[in-house]
Amino acid sequence: MGRPFKQVVRRGMNQTNPLPEWTDDLSVNVEIIDEDHQAFFRLAALMSDVTSTPDNDQPYLIETSINILEEYIEGHFLREQKAMAKADYAYLVEHIAAHDAFADRVTRIIQDYRQTGSIEKIGTLAHLVTDWLNNHIRVVDAQYKGILTNANVDDRPLVYMAAGLDTELVS
Ligand code: FEO
Repeated sequence: MGRPFKQVVRRGMNQTNPLPEWTDDLSVNVEIIDEDHQAFFRLAALMSDVTSTPDNDQPYLIETSINILEEYIEGHFLREQKAMAKADYAYLVEHIAAHDAFADRVTRIIQDYRQTGSIEKIGTLAHLVTDWLNNHIRVVDAQYKGILTNANVDDRPLVYMAAGLDTELVS
């Protein structure tokens, strides 16, 4: 089924991309969470690149990137929410509501793409991911700085979190 996804990722990373990129001032001082956030930016860049490369592989690449995005969202949000719950974080409910609202917006765009086949929707999705993250990290995630730390956040890979293998947090 076309070129391996890794080949296209490497190709995509070498192209000029208009989307905002990760910058150090977005750090929340928790390594694994910063890594999650950076992964979202890289994935959005790939999605944007794929939309501008119409070929036989495009539907496969879009579907693969959508699946990865869904996994990242589930895994990253779960990582933060479980750590915040364990820390008795005061703004947990509001933070979960922000996550849920974003996940709902992403789901609606994906459903729209799957119903219409509109490649533009995937470009919209890439911009939504970077724009939302930029704001969410600075305004909402920033509030747990100093409360969530390298010591109290589960640092297992996103795939474990998304697969429901997060049976306990590192304490
Ligand atoms: Fe890093 Fe609250 O998402």
